[in-house]
Order: sequence, then C-alpha cells, then structure tokens
Amino acid sequence: PTGLLADRRARPLQDLRISITDRCNFRCVYCMPKEVFDKDYSYLPHSSLLTFEEITRIASLFVAHGVEKIRLTGGEPLLRKNVERLIEMLAALRTPDGRELDLTLTTNGSLLARKAQSLKDAGLKRVTVSLDALDDAVFKKMNDVDFAVSDVLHGLQVAHDVGLGPIKVNMVVKGGMNDQEILPMARYFKDTPFILRFIEYMDVGASNGWKMDEVIPSAEVVRRIGQQMPLVPVAANYAGETANRWRYADGGGEIGVISSVTQAFCSDCTRARLSTEGKLYTCLFATGGHDLRALLRTGRSDAEISTVIGGIWRNRDDRYSELRTANTDTLRPERKVEMSYIGG
Ligand code: GTP
Ligand code: 5AD
Ligand code: SF4
Ligand code: SF4
Repeated sequence: PTGLLADRRARPLQDLRISITDRCNFRCVYCMPKEVFDKDYSYLPHSSLLTFEEITRIASLFVAHGVEKIRLTGGEPLLRKNVERLIEMLAALRTPDGRELDLTLTTNGSLLARKAQSLKDAGLKRVTVSLDALDDAVFKKMNDVDFAVSDVLHGLQVAHDVGLGPIKVNMVVKGGMNDQEILPMARYFKDTPFILRFIEYMDVGASNGWKMDEVIPSAEVVRRIGQQMPLVPVAANYAGETANRWRYADGGGEIGVISSVTQAFCSDCTRARLSTEGKLYTCLFATGGHDLRALLRTGRSDAEISTVIGGIWRNRDDRYSELRTANTDTLRPERKVEMSYIGG
C-alpha cells in the first residue's frame, strides 16, 4: 500500500511476476500440452533471455515504484541454471523505506527436495508448489510425464523443514480429469501446515483448447468439501488477494479458492508480469507486451526506463477476466501469449 503509482482503475503496482524460463519438464494439459510443446517447439534461445543482471536491474526499478512482492515463475523456474544466484541478487533489494521483499517462487516440485536448502540459503522467503492430484495415474494424466506424486510430496516436506513456509499448494481443477481428487487432496492437507488452493481452469494462452464446461466453479469445490468437512469463510490477508479463504470449522487449517473464471478479481489486480525475454505485460491475458529488454540493451539510463515503466502502468486499463465473466462465449481474443512465457 505505498500508493506511489496507480493505473487508470486506481490499482497500485505491488507485485512483479518474472518468468525466468519458458521451458518445463512437465507437460500439463492446461498449460503446455504435448501436442503443441513437442520436440519441434522452438523455445527462446539463450541470448533472448534476460540475464540475471538485467532481471535484477528491472526488478529494482519496479521496487522503487512500489513493488513489494516478487514471484519467480516460468515454465519451471528451478530449471534455470544457477537460479540461486539470481535469488541472492533479488534478495538484496530493499523497498524505498528499507524493508525486505516478499520473494517467492512457483514450482512444480520435481526438483524441490534437491534444491530447497540452497534456495533458502540464497534468501528465498517461501515457495508455492503446484500439485494436481494425489493419485499417480491422475497426476500423470494432468502433466503427461512420468514423475511420482511422492517426489513432490517429499519436496514439500523438505521445503517446509528448511523454513520455506508458509507453503501453498496449488491445484488446477479440470472437470472430468482431476475433480475426483478434490476431496482426497482436501483430506490429505487438512491438519497440516500446507495451505491447499483450488484454481479454476482458465482460458489462458492459445493452446489448451479451453472449454467453459470443463471449469468446476469454486462454489462447487467449496460445497463438495464443506459437505464432508464444514468450512467457514475467512477475510482476505490483503486487498487484491487472488484466493478466497475458508477455514475448517474444527480448526484443521484453511483452504483457498482462486476463481478467476466465475468471480474475476481484476478490480484490485496489482500484478505486473515480466516475460522470459523481458517484455512487460500488464495482464495475464494480454496479447502484447512492452519490450524493456530493448531499452536495457540500447544503453538507456535507469531514469529513462523507470519513466517508461511508470507511463505503462499509469495507462493500464486491463480487466480481461471481468470482461470474460460477463461474456463467456464471445470474448476470444486471438494470439494470447502462453502462460509458460509470461509467467503464471
Ligand atoms: P500469494 O502471494 O501466496 O497470495 O500467491 P498468489 O495469490 O499470487 O498466488 P499464486 O502466485 O500462487 O497464483 C496462483 C494462481 O492464481 C496462478 O497460477 C494463476 O492460475 C492464478 N492467478 C494469479 N494471478 C492472477 C492474475 O493476475 N489473473 C488471473 N486471472 N489469474 C491469476
Ligand atoms: N488455468 C489455471 N491455472 C493455470 N496455470 C497454468 N495454466 C493454467 C490454466 N490454464 C497455473 C497453475 C499452476 C501454475 C504453474 O500455473 O496455478 O500451478
Ligand atoms: Fe510446467 Fe507449471 Fe505449466 Fe505444468 S503448469 S507445464 S508444471 S509451467
Ligand atoms: Fe489482473 Fe488481467 Fe488477471 Fe484481471 S485477468 S486479475 S487484470 S492479470
């Protein structure tokens, strides 16, 4: 709530989500389906990626503009070589009034057990782990690769043990694919330190063949769980939180539901996204970004780049999910960018 900079809908700039690689070792059907992301898919060449120095420089300009939370995403961010070095560099940044950032990362968990300690040592504050099923067959159907659920669960435990909490577990619910896992997941994570969040399957990108009838509305998720284990609504942690929170009436912890399809949360969206190759996107569903890398690589000063960033945010008017909620059938912009490129 620094309020240094606001867009055309009076939304402050508070979060920066940075995609540090467009590659992933999973092929989730809702994100990087195998038919599109096959062996012929052309990923970005190394020279296109922002370097760690470039990422840190841009991040510091965003922090000067009021950003307090930085999330590294991808693709799978733990696949980026020496990611710990980048985390060290970002962890050294301070807000204008001298505070540390909320520095976090979204991972599929496959490399987490191996990396948790070095991530913590580098200065990462916490992690969010994606997990779409407890059943190995369903897990495999969702991500189309051969990892064991137990590897991810082990990664979660190690991350918790080294102090990368509070840890959130994100489950994308795709109707007819993994919705039978809603209750087992809820039961498994109840009475644990992990906060399970159910995410509505979104029409992000242009390759997942999204259909509205494969979305299980969050209200239905809450109904199914609440029938077995009574739930009570809880107030948001902060304005603009993506999840609606519910706690178990018996004190067994909390869950969250992220309803970007049935209850869009654009009205207080404070998130900017930096793509793997340094384009700034002001919405997850944008069709175009602003090329900050070009400014960096043509020798522009911090002051100049900072002015550009400020201008882009002041001019921001995006609210794609709200418009889609109002008009599910006809709103279909072409050429939306992929989530692995722009960052979940
Ligand atoms: P916390 O900092 O832990 O509260 O995390 P967060 O709420 O920012 O959540 P996270 O980064 O784990 O995002 C969870 C999921 O919410 C993402 O993977 C997306 O599916 C969805 N999401 C996050 N931000 C946006 C957004 O700006 N727009 C839309 N439509 N969906 C979003
Ligand atoms: N719908 C909802 N969430 C998605 N993610 C990726 N693709 C989608 C989609 N189509 C999010 C999930 C996953 C994270 C890496 O990206 O939350 O856990
Ligand atoms: Fe990879 Fe995450 Fe996308 Fe799955 S959702 S393909 S784990 S980036
Ligand atoms: Fe923000 Fe765009 Fe998502 Fe709305 S759809 S919450 S404006 S990123």
